[in-house]
Amino acid sequence: ADIFTYDPGFTSTASCESTITFIDGDKGELLHRGYPIDQLAEKSHFLEVCYLLLYGELPSAEQLEDFEGRVTKHTMLHEQMQYFFRGFRRDAHPMATMVGVVGAMSAFYHDSTDIADPWQREVASIRLIAKMPTIAAWAYKYSIGQPFVYPRNDLDYAANFLHMCFAVPAETYEVNPIVARAMDRIFTLHADHEQNASTSTVRLASSSGANPFACIAAGIACLWGPAHGGANQAALEMLREIGSPNRIPEFIERAKDKNDPFRLMGFGHRVYKNFDPRAKVMKQSADEVLDLLGIENNPTLQVAKQLEEIAVKDDYFIEKKLYPNVDFYSGIILDAIGFPTSMFTPIFAVARTVGWISQWKEMIADPAMKIGRPRQLYVGATRRDYVDVEDR
Ligand code: CMC
Repeated sequence: ADIFTYDPGFTSTASCESTITFIDGDKGELLHRGYPIDQLAEKSHFLEVCYLLLYGELPSAEQLEDFEGRVTKHTMLHEQMQYFFRGFRRDAHPMATMVGVVGAMSAFYHDSTDIADPWQREVASIRLIAKMPTIAAWAYKYSIGQPFVYPRNDLDYAANFLHMCFAVPAETYEVNPIVARAMDRIFTLHADHEQNASTSTVRLASSSGANPFACIAAGIACLWGPAHGGANQAALEMLREIGSPNRIPEFIERAKDKNDPFRLMGFGHRVYKNFDPRAKVMKQSADEVLDLLGIENNPTLQVAKQLEEIAVKDDYFIEKKLYPNVDFYSGIILDAIGFPTSMFTPIFAVARTVGWISQWKEMIADPAMKIGRPRQLYVGATRRDYVDVEDR
């Protein structure tokens, strides 16, 4: 009989070769195409990082302009896609709406679904990156009962997203450049993270040759879970529930209690065992953004910082190598910008789309590509004969 390695959660199985993102979990290092994430977050911007992830090199000024132009050209949604939003209940979670609407894109763009054609792959990639902010913003607008706001192509990627979320017809809305920069940095920090659950989902779904828009919808579904992208919403809700520093020990004790399912949300990572470099940038960014927006003594940020301080000195967290991850501080910035917690994971999805697409393109072009098909260790009943219902 075949012998298989049993590896639940794929903790030690490499599913592919990749040249896109490198993580050294012990050192707390994250590189995209060789470039450290902290340098990209500080010096680059989201669309440039998109180019880097998709094509492997930083663009020349001309290449960047061309790429930004191509993305900008595709920000509009097909007018009929509005009916998909309108078909949902207003209280639907925006992630639910996004799974549906992005899946529906497969029915709208027949000219970019043949994955055997490199040109169609390119168009599908650009469409997804360009339209995802519009889809997330419209899911939000619909949920609060406001009219959809069309993209403004004179604005950059992050500023346009803020415009579509916060502009109200008949009122002037000026995008605050500090807020736009913070938004862009959040996108950059979430752009890719090698073979995480949602990316592996996209790869697995696509390995059958499935429609790319449907595969990205599968990635969105996977990202939604609280152990993955849903942790940013859960982390802020947890920090709010803790409410004040004197309640921190109670929650730390709960997180350590084996009989309590509670976990510190925004803490721990499968790969990072020292620190998450994205969390470091995010923490610094939270300080800067709140400062620049004139928000003083934000109680949630205070609880977050003290919680981190106490947890990293606690034996349980030291022994299990649990540190704040990217989701721990991002919610504080998003909250300061004005987003409700339900929009945190959709924002993660907007940013991660380029990672999903880059990994998808890499997989399709890889001659070693095969359909993904894990094996199992069967532990159920052995062969037995069917018994008629009256004899059971
Ligand atoms: N709070 C308390 N204990 C924890 C936590 C936590 N946040 N995370 C892990 N542990 C414990 C866990 O109970 C286990 O203990 P034991 O060995 O005694 O059974 C040990 O640490 C190892 O945990 P694990 O669940 O086996 O580790 P994993 O690699 O399968 O899970 C994780 C990684 C991120 C899912 C997990 O740390 C977790 O659930 N964290 C909270 C949710 C979260 O913040 N997710 C965001 C991940 S980063 C970005 C993203 O993907 O969105």
